[in-house]
Amino acid sequence: MRLTTEERDMLSGKGGRASKKCMEILVALGEIYGAKRLVPVSSVQVSGVSYKNLGDAGIEFLRELAEDGRARVKTTLNPAGMDLTNWALQGIDSGFATRQLEIIDAYRRLGLEISCTCTPYLAGNEPRLGDHIAWGESSAVVYANSVLGARTNREGGPSALAASLTGRTPLYGYHLDENRVATLIVDVAVPLGSPEDFSAMGYFVGKVVGNGVPYFRGIREAGLEESKELSAALASSGGVAMFHMAGVTPEAGRAPKGTETISFGKRDLAVSTAGLSDEGDPDFVSVGCPHCSLEELATIAGLLRGRKVTREFWICCSREVKRQSDERGYSKVIEGSGAKFACDTCMVVAPIETMGFRVVATNSAKACHYLRNNGLRVRFMTLGRCVMEATKPS
Ligand code: F3S
Repeated sequence: MRLTTEERDMLSGKGGRASKKCMEILVALGEIYGAKRLVPVSSVQVSGVSYKNLGDAGIEFLRELAEDGRARVKTTLNPAGMDLTNWALQGIDSGFATRQLEIIDAYRRLGLEISCTCTPYLAGNEPRLGDHIAWGESSAVVYANSVLGARTNREGGPSALAASLTGRTPLYGYHLDENRVATLIVDVAVPLGSPEDFSAMGYFVGKVVGNGVPYFRGIREAGLEESKELSAALASSGGVAMFHMAGVTPEAGRAPKGTETISFGKRDLAVSTAGLSDEGDPDFVSVGCPHCSLEELATIAGLLRGRKVTREFWICCSREVKRQSDERGYSKVIEGSGAKFACDTCMVVAPIETMGFRVVATNSAKACHYLRNNGLRVRFMTLGRCVMEATKPS
């Protein structure tokens, strides 16, 4: 792989131990994937923040890097395992909280923004069309490649951090035009009436397309909420990093001739939706996977006005979107109902399975997928139904 003088200096340790280690990671990755060179990135999103996923070995790795490593580009963080200020109210164990705060402290010393959200594009990290970036949160990777037209692979925690501390990533995969071409056309033959329908469709298509690039036809429009749910679902049942939507996404153009085509119809939507639910009465309700937009908080506040919650109800969002919600008065209504904001975290990366909950109601196919992996049962329903579930008489 061809390296610039500055990159060679980093590799030889002239920039310090952390950037040497990071450059070694990037060069090894580049060689595995046949990259000819590294490319500068304009932003990084680091995943692997929850103590639940990182463990003590992860803390040690971060501490070592933080001795002399510093972020060279704007870098935001994925959700942590708890709300960083209201963790006690969430019922998080103090031992877990201590270790989680050590992780955050190491990231802070590395110069990362303690944003703790999976929707960085709603919290000040919004790349432009054609930007090379290195993002690690899979749902945000799909959103950035597809909706924003930025260019990123699905980075792991160490490779994203290495990109942050060097300002570079290997030039391969979704950074190159030839890998951004559709591999499967999906003719959508059913009206999609809600973000949850997009979520269920994404879950279905992700299983079929694997790590390919689906091209959706027949959808007139998809707003922010629909696109973020679709992105998250495609990335959880499959290894998708990018989709196109005819007439909607910036690089859709025309699907290449001869591409394999499938149809997604009424029955497929019903089967996918039904397959996302288990039996059981929910004892925990959570929305905001990926983290809620301000629009969603407005809807939730409207639905909760004059009601009281009867079950644990978490609303996951970034601290930035919560701040905007405070300004508009939505937060007061939401908290007045007894619902809890879960800023900095979510129902999947927080250790809720150790807190006595068994059945979770949620409006996200991605959350259903990972909560099941965590040993919980799930009920998939619309945002409105989630609020009804959280407020129904017990
Ligand atoms: Fe975000 Fe957690 Fe879902 S990180 S995409 S809310 S699983």
